[in-house]
Amino acid sequence: MEIPAYLVNEHYDDRFFDVFNAIAEAKHVFFQGSGILESLSAMGPAKKEFRIGETGFGAGRVLVALMDLLGSSGLTGLNITYNSVELHPVAAGRMAAILESFRPEVGPLIDQLVMAYGSIDLSRKGWQQVQLTRPFGSLTLNLWIGEALDMVRALDRPCDAWFLDGHGPKKNPAMWRQELLLAIGEKTVIGGACATYTVAGEVRRGLTAAGFSVEQAPGHGGKKAVLRGLKTVR
Ligand SMILES: C[S@@+](CC[C@H](N)C(=O)[O-])C[C@H]1O[C@@H](n2cnc3c(N)ncnc32)[C@H](O)[C@@H]1O
Repeated sequence: MEIPAYLVNEHYDDRFFDVFNAIAEAKHVFFQGSGILESLSAMGPAKKEFRIGETGFGAGRVLVALMDLLGSSGLTGLNITYNSVELHPVAAGRMAAILESFRPEVGPLIDQLVMAYGSIDLSRKGWQQVQLTRPFGSLTLNLWIGEALDMVRALDRPCDAWFLDGHGPKKNPAMWRQELLLAIGEKTVIGGACATYTVAGEVRRGLTAAGFSVEQAPGHGGKKAVLRGLKTVR
C-alpha cells in the first residue's frame, strides 16, 4: 500500500511512525522499555513531579499514547512534565491528519492535544508550554522548537525517563550523535531510564558512554528487538 505523503517526514524521507501500530508500539517500546508505570506506581500517594524527555515530537503520537496509558492505569494525582523537541514542527492541521487513523482508539486525546498544540507559535524558537489536564492529573508539555542538543542543554533539571524517537540512525544520524547522547545522559537522574526502537551498535555504544546500562528487549510489530537503558553512572 502506498503511504500518503503527509505521513512521511519530507526532511528525512521517513515515516513519522508505523501508521498501523503506532499507539501500541509506543506503549511497548517507550513505556514498557522505560518502566514508566512501575516508576509512577512506586511513588505512592506523595506524588512528586515526574519528568520525561523526548527527542523528536513529530505529530505527538507518543504523547497521545502516554495519555491513553495513564488514563487506563488507575493512577491519579500525577504531575507529569513532558519535555520534547521538534526541529521541523508540523502545523496543527497536519498533526490531526497524521493522527487521524488512531481516532477510534484515542479520538478525544487527539482532539485535546491538537487544540492545545494549535495555541503554540511554531515560528518562535525555544520553549513553548501547554497544559493538558486529565483525570490522572496534570501533564505539562514543554516543547522546544529547534535543535535537540539545544533543548537538552536548556533543561534546568534532569529527566526520569527519555523516549528516543528521532528517526533511525541511518536516516538521521544527527539525532544519535555522541554529543547529544552524552548531553541526554547528563540530563537523566541516576536510576532514570531511556528507551528506543533502534538497537544499532552505535546507539548502544553511545548510550553506554553516556552512563546508561543498556540491554535489548523483545521487539514489537515485526521488529526483533528494542533497546532500553538504565542510568547507572554519572
Ligand atoms: C520519528 S519522528 C517522531 C515521531 C514522534 N515522536 C511522534 O510520536 O509523532 C522524529 C522527529 O524528530 C524530528 N527531528 C529530527 N532531527 C531533529 C533534530 N536534530 N532536532 C529536533 N528534532 C529533530 C523530526 O522532524 C521528526 O518529527
